[in-house]
Amino acid sequence: MNIDNLPNAKAVYVHDTLDDLSLAVAQRVKASAAQAIAVRGVFHLVLAGGETPRRCYEKLRNLAIDWAHVQIYFGDERCLPRGDAQRNDTMIRATLLEHIVIPQANIHCIPSELGAQDAAAAYAAMLERVAALDMVLLGMGEDGHTASLFPCNPATESTALVVPVFNSPKPPPERVSLGMRTLSAARQKIFLVAGAGKRSALEQLSRGVLLPAARVAAAEWHLDRAALPG
Ligand code: 6PG
Repeated sequence: MNIDNLPNAKAVYVHDTLDDLSLAVAQRVKASAAQAIAVRGVFHLVLAGGETPRRCYEKLRNLAIDWAHVQIYFGDERCLPRGDAQRNDTMIRATLLEHIVIPQANIHCIPSELGAQDAAAAYAAMLERVAALDMVLLGMGEDGHTASLFPCNPATESTALVVPVFNSPKPPPERVSLGMRTLSAARQKIFLVAGAGKRSALEQLSRGVLLPAARVAAAEWHLDRAALPG
């Protein structure tokens, strides 16, 4: 199979290891942040949840980035109490945000403790005031979902800025996600995909199956060798 056939790939990079992938993406964030801050005075960055980006965040905290001019958003959140160990923002605080100097006002968590519906409405009201998201980091699940946009879930078809998600097959069942349109509209979209568990989804995407991850427009894909289908 030809990995360059990913339907929405602007570019595909294959890295030997997760560590190499993590450093490459962290460098990409640093370069884009510097450029955006030089031109527009601000860098709007959306971070991904899940396990794969952890190492990238650990790399990022050691890079020279003008965090005071970076606004941080979250691609999705699980509906759990604030501070819950399973929340994406808890992981991102522990791996990145607690290690950098950034005003708390620059960190825009999804208030998923309010429940999916109210949290989605509140986050959409905040995002409406943001002219454009500069970069979105994304993971991909084994079923091809991204953020909390799952195959065959009505939330994936929504054109809303932010969507409430129910019946997620990945726990917890209730979540909040940026909508597909919002993800696609960002200036740069970067997927981080690592490990053998992602082979089947990548193989389907390369055959043109439009799983949710393939529906994010013009994305840059960073894969490790273990994720490559045979
Ligand atoms: C979450 C996510 C989700 C994640 C993918 C990949 O809440 O889990 O934001 O979209 O990015 O499921 O997760 P892994 O990197 O752990 O495989």
